[in-house]
Amino acid sequence: MAEQLRLDKYLADMGVGTRSELKLWIRKGRVTVNDVECKKPETKVDLQKDVICFDGAIVGYIKYIYLMLNKPAGVVSATHDNVNRTVLDLIRDKQGKDLFPVGRLDKDTEGLLLLTNDGDLAHQLLSPKKHVDKVYYAKVQGKVTEEDREAFLKGVPIEENYITLPAKLNILHSDEISEIELTIQEGKFHQVKRMFEAFGKEVIFLKRLSMGGLALDTGLSPGEYRILTEDEVLYLKNLGI
Ligand code: URA
Repeated sequence: MAEQLRLDKYLADMGVGTRSELKLWIRKGRVTVNDVECKKPETKVDLQKDVICFDGAIVGYIKYIYLMLNKPAGVVSATHDNVNRTVLDLIRDKQGKDLFPVGRLDKDTEGLLLLTNDGDLAHQLLSPKKHVDKVYYAKVQGKVTEEDREAFLKGVPIEENYITLPAKLNILHSDEISEIELTIQEGKFHQVKRMFEAFGKEVIFLKRLSMGGLALDTGLSPGEYRILTEDEVLYLKNLGI
């Protein structure tokens, strides 16, 4: 089915300007549709077939955006917040898209956070039924032991009447401050922290390393992000199918 949009919305979605700016600019004749000047902002254009130019330059339509962010500590995983900086404040060119984070990391958690405007993919990745692996690296106050590893494999009671799914604990270093990697398949509020709390241990640093097998790009410093490649998007879309 042909997908159509108003001309002013098309250009606003692509970040050319605001809707009111675009109405003005279109009426001034700065926009062509298939090489013909079009002065009516309400004109419906076909996303597949029509060629839209602004000041002579083609403006292609990109419907979905997929970004990988290395979330720094100190920002919240939300689209708006009256007090804190959000992960969206870190994204420079949002191209007028309604981006949102795929799930949440705590304010003090770092690492891989996907941002997109593709609700279907986000839903797939977050659905508890899909059992998408999330791998975290953590520093934990206290000795993490083989007994903890075995207990995590059985599932951890983190609230009344709730035991987590089995989780794979890989102990990298066990000492007064231990280092671990943990693979979980859920995204309950403060899940990793509460799993350790259940054994009287405190997570003092937490970073997500991967989601669904897609690893955080090691070239991204905290606060940096990049667009996912087509292969990465396809890979995520095919997860669990
Ligand atoms: N588990 C937590 O406790 N915090 C996070 O940010 C992610 C998983």
